[in-house]
Amino acid sequence: MSRPILEMRGITKTFPGVVALDNVDLDVARGEVHAVVGENGAGKSTLMKILSGAYQRDAGSIYLNGRPADISAPVDAIRQGIGIVYQDLPLVPALTVLANIYLGREETTPLGRIDRASHLARFERLCDSFGIYLPPDSRIRDLSVAERQLVEILKVLDRDAQVIVMDEPTATLDQNAKQALFQTVRQLQAAGKSFIFITHFIDEIFEIADRVTVLKDGSRVDTLEIDKTSPQEVVAMMIGHSPREMFPEKTGPASGAPILQLREISVGARIRDFSMSIHPGEILGLTGLVGSGCSDIGNLIIGNLDYDRGAVLLDGAPTRISSPYEAIKRGICLLPSDRKGSGLLLDFELAKNVSLSSIEKISPRQVIQFKRERQIAADFIEKLRIVTPSARQRVRNLSGGNQQKVVLARMLRTDARILILDEPTQGIDVRAKEEIFLLMRQLADQGKAILFISSEFKEIAGVADRGIVLRNGAITAALDRDDISEARLVAAATML
Ligand SMILES: Nc1ncnc2c1ncn2[C@@H]1O[C@H](COP(=O)(O)OP(=O)(O)OP(=O)(O)O)[C@@H](O)[C@H]1O
Ligand SMILES: [Mg+2]
Repeated sequence: MSRPILEMRGITKTFPGVVALDNVDLDVARGEVHAVVGENGAGKSTLMKILSGAYQRDAGSIYLNGRPADISAPVDAIRQGIGIVYQDLPLVPALTVLANIYLGREETTPLGRIDRASHLARFERLCDSFGIYLPPDSRIRDLSVAERQLVEILKVLDRDAQVIVMDEPTATLDQNAKQALFQTVRQLQAAGKSFIFITHFIDEIFEIADRVTVLKDGSRVDTLEIDKTSPQEVVAMMIGHSPREMFPEKTGPASGAPILQLREISVGARIRDFSMSIHPGEILGLTGLVGSGCSDIGNLIIGNLDYDRGAVLLDGAPTRISSPYEAIKRGICLLPSDRKGSGLLLDFELAKNVSLSSIEKISPRQVIQFKRERQIAADFIEKLRIVTPSARQRVRNLSGGNQQKVVLARMLRTDARILILDEPTQGIDVRAKEEIFLLMRQLADQGKAILFISSEFKEIAGVADRGIVLRNGAITAALDRDDISEARLVAAATML
């Protein structure tokens, strides 16, 4: 067997109070899709940042095509054929696809102008050779998340990437877009490209990967061939014991008067005649493909989006909530799907972020009680398994999934009677998902009403007492507890 295209040997990396990676090995063969999995904070992104030159390793070596690679800055990695497809896609929204791909590397004509013809020719050659299609003159802001991802892929291919790293590429994709991405990955794989693929969706690796490396607490547990393992075995390695049942027992729907009702709401052509009601004590699922309008519903309830027709009733009385601030005052709180819009203060400590919106509750006399603040944070660290050296860690230094848990913890601290959770498990590992679902159920049992918005049909089917499915802004199914199943939700969302 020929030597792997990439070998990482004995990679070790520590941060103050954290051993992020401890003597980790990873090798990737030419044309292989190699999955890397592990719980939040296991070290996946750190390993990739070392490969990409964004972080310096404390110990270990990297070989490319059998030769020691010198990677001490991102340019070194790019030059040696490592391509990173970023999660939060650093593209320029106002520029075209073509301009973004050649940004900073423009070819110029003898007169010093940008040589568009040359870029276009290169772009077309690239697209043809890999069977990818994208309109070169579309502006990034007009593209879907999936299309933006393709731009990122083309960008690394243009720089002749041999090993392409994707860190949670499917977190924000719906089923269709995910399949399209997998198709592209397979085409590139056939052309000899290698992939490192990080995901929290264990089913996905059985669809796309050849091998999987499991990380736990910064160490490599094992590397397995996909054909010789099972999702159960992989999850057991990740969490260190056999997986439990993922979903808590359903106790809703509750009887009694609805706390919130939406009646025949329309928002231009985006939402048409949407009606729903939610009772204290129940978890109502709202699902559909990305772009189906589910997030719009959350936003219009809290006054972030105007509706032209219909009515909202709170405790049976017609209301018009005009701002998120007013929504909070009236006991309605939204966890937005966009982590960046969630208002995390990255340079503040974890404890401060958790108590942010409820400072009054902590300090009745305006004196912030630091001790109490840290105690509350410590409770959440335990309950949600936030991986951090202490409650004083800056949020910026937490892994992606652990940042998401902080946002969630903050929202759970509020006194809201109605919680709207938009994609609350995005980027969250399996075990923490279990905890979050359990917490949602406990909150419902305490009498809160929970609107659970998610494009993960399995999670909606497993958690929600009732489910509503949207497609292109209109309801295609309303399912009761006895009717709700993944298959029905998929069918209604996609009109199979
Ligand atoms: N710049 C940093 N400073 C301090 N600690 C850091 C830094 N970057 C990462 N860490 C810590 O290193 C550990 C590994 O983080 P990493 O981001 O690699 O996790 P991950 O496996 O990608 O998790 P997730 O699934 O949540 O994205 C975590 O404990 C994290 O808090
Ligand atoms: Mg990560």
